[in-house]
Amino acid sequence: MDRLDAAHTLRPVGIGDGAALARAYRRNREHLAPWEPVRDDGFFDEGWHEHDVAQYVADAPAGRNVRLVIASDDGEIRGRVNLNNIVRGAFCSADLGYWVESTRQGRGLATRAVELALRHARQDLMLHRVQAATLVHNTASQRVLAANGFEQIGLAPRYLLIAGAWQDHILFQRLLEDPVTGRPGRP
Ligand SMILES: CC(C)(COP(=O)(O)OP(=O)(O)OC[C@H]1O[C@@H](n2cnc3c(N)ncnc32)[C@H](O)[C@@H]1OP(=O)(O)O)[C@@H](O)C(=O)NCCC(=O)NCCS
Repeated sequence: MDRLDAAHTLRPVGIGDGAALARAYRRNREHLAPWEPVRDDGFFDEGWHEHDVAQYVADAPAGRNVRLVIASDDGEIRGRVNLNNIVRGAFCSADLGYWVESTRQGRGLATRAVELALRHARQDLMLHRVQAATLVHNTASQRVLAANGFEQIGLAPRYLLIAGAWQDHILFQRLLEDPVTGRPGRP
């Protein structure tokens, strides 16, 4: 478990988190809708998330995904950071995803949580690279990536089915051997 700020920690998701995850997704249903696949009503149930976490825990030994939650000190889940599609061999790469609760945005939680996830990817998972993809107009997410040393590597037309439409995404990568040199436009 890592501390993000005075009131939040970053920790692995675990058995028993289903109820808090369902509450978090219900609180943030409108906030996340423009940035995620369309969710059916079952997604907002505790049982759906408890099953999903159990599946993740059972698959964990294969090492294909790392799922973390941003938890507030009252025990509620306020966001997520995932390293998905971990591939080894000549690639040694993973896909990064994240979100933060609507009422807790703008206080650096995503920037710090991504920083810690990258440290885990480099030091513990021994990965070479992390990739992220944002909608073209997702400026807040692009700021989080810039602060963590990601560079833009391309534009992928109709890359993901988000909010019901195949939408263009900007692709970013962070090469984990490289030091962070600061975000563009900042000393
Ligand atoms: C993107 C998201 C994770 C950012 O979380 P956060 O905890 O608020 O992020 P931080 O506080 O660490 O940093 C946010 C940055 O975005 C900037 N920002 C916030 N809203 C913005 C907006 N509407 N336009 C431009 N920049 C914006 C902030 O100023 C800050 O940049 P700065 O540090 O250079 O000032 C959060 O807004 C979110 O969950 N969005 C919906 C889901 C999503 O987009 N996930 C990512 C998919 S790729």
